[in-house]
Amino acid sequence: MNQVLEAIKKRRSVRFFHSKPIEMDIITTIIEAGNQAPSAGNLHPWRFIIVEDEKIKRLLLEVTLSKWRKIVEYLKNTRPEYYKEIMFESRYRELEEPKDHIYFHAPIILFIIDFRRHAVDCALACQNIMLSTYSLSLGTCYVGFGAMVTDNAEIRKVLELKDDEQIHTIVLGYPKEDLPRRPPKKEPQIKWI
Ligand SMILES: Cc1cc2nc3c(=O)[nH]c(=O)nc-3n(C[C@H](O)[C@H](O)[C@H](O)COP(=O)(O)O)c2cc1C
Repeated sequence: MNQVLEAIKKRRSVRFFHSKPIEMDIITTIIEAGNQAPSAGNLHPWRFIIVEDEKIKRLLLEVTLSKWRKIVEYLKNTRPEYYKEIMFESRYRELEEPKDHIYFHAPIILFIIDFRRHAVDCALACQNIMLSTYSLSLGTCYVGFGAMVTDNAEIRKVLELKDDEQIHTIVLGYPKEDLPRRPPKKEPQIKWI
């Protein structure tokens, strides 16, 4: 199998990382891969923020968890059935454990900041980053929860977020164990015309 197809097939979301820092040339390479993504009008409507600082990571985790607690409380009061459904899933119940189940203690939290709501362009950059990181034997996980920090004033200041910017979050590091098994993938729905 050619290497691109192999990377697409074998990349997995990784949630256990060594604390070992990531070399600068690796970070430069994966950012460059993200920056090679196609973008509408070739605008490159993104910028990248690499978070290594433990204090900022702690702040990100606290703000995300606090937002999550508010959402859970809201669902408990307004949509009890949905609340029960969510709490049935261990990945949501475990969020409150002392372990970091949001950013997974990753050595790097990478934000891809989307200018003027160019979410599609940024998603393409994210996939380039995840595949290139895999090809360098590191692991990544896209963290949807990461977007919950967007309305926090302190974090907005740290990230220098402008009004019309959104964030995408990828955590990365050296995987602590073998890559997880491939989760079941559905057969594609295809219509030939
Ligand atoms: C938009 C998006 C949001 C995601 N958010 C999270 C998240 O917050 N936490 C997490 O552990 N995984 C998250 N994931 C990873 C998915 O759970 C994962 O891609 C899926 O289970 C398939 O596994 P695979 O990536 O190994 O193929 C997210 C993925 C996407 C695309």
